[in-house]
Amino acid sequence: MAFKYINFKKREGIAWVQFNRPEKLNALNPDVLRDLEKAVVICEEDDDIKVVVLHGNEKAFVAGADIENMAKGDIKFAYELTDLTMRVQERIADLPKPTIAAISGYALGGGCEMALCCDFRIAAENALLGQPEITLGIIPGGGGTQRLTRLVGLGPATELILKGEMIKADRAERIGLVSKVVPLDHLEAEAKALASKLMERPAMALRAAKTAIRKGINTSLKEGLHIEQDLFCMLFGTEDQKEGMAAFLEKRRPIFKGK
Ligand code: CAA
Repeated sequence: MAFKYINFKKREGIAWVQFNRPEKLNALNPDVLRDLEKAVVICEEDDDIKVVVLHGNEKAFVAGADIENMAKGDIKFAYELTDLTMRVQERIADLPKPTIAAISGYALGGGCEMALCCDFRIAAENALLGQPEITLGIIPGGGGTQRLTRLVGLGPATELILKGEMIKADRAERIGLVSKVVPLDHLEAEAKALASKLMERPAMALRAAKTAIRKGINTSLKEGLHIEQDLFCMLFGTEDQKEGMAAFLEKRRPIFKGK
């Protein structure tokens, strides 16, 4: 499939989805978002893809929504843009396989929000993250007030959103916005190592765990516990549950089939 603003590579079970609009620091306009959606659909449908890595280039993961595109927009325009953004983001968040944002350079506004849709965020030492929308007279419109707050808590999220300042990778790690910081030239290897580890895990259990976490966080504890219980029990119908427990008892490594 041909893309203009995305580079898409599939290697050894990993889809590498690279934002490719370097002259604008990968700023997101509707064309970029539609290309991204096409890439995500491939990731959904291709059973050979086990893990998805979103990444940019050395200078930018994504420097936010395209301000030039937004500058003259009216209310209708803003609804259409955020409808598209949220549709793509929910598709990423709902992918039934693990997702990793490998962040180098700027991850701002809609870029930070895109990373928030992934299961893991690892950052290069040069990463700068933030929600600068307030400096443009707006607020985050791609889930920043919601996903960021759920991830890092009320205090750090409020500070990031109200002050609109960028933070460096080490602070992002301290507040839990990213899980690990590595030297820039190790970022790809780190993403690959994490993806490889995840590929060793049973795919049905990974999917169930994602669903339990994502559905559970949006509901009451009681409801969340029921969701967990149902998914836990469902896994007893999988071959991988039999294999995982047999392998433990036989003191060998399990060979999971994703069934
Ligand atoms: N939208 C449009 N163009 C952008 C952009 C953005 N978000 N970020 C960078 N660019 C463009 C610049 O205009 C510039 O283009 P030209 O060369 O044609 O002038 C090019 O990318 C390179 O950028 P700079 O020259 O500014 O690079 P820099 O290294 O000096 O600064 C930066 C980098 C600090 C990231 C700065 O570009 C910047 O502040 N960008 C805007 C960041 C921002 O506010 N993002 C949030 C957008 S709002 C949003 O995202 C809302 C939402 O969630 C829906």
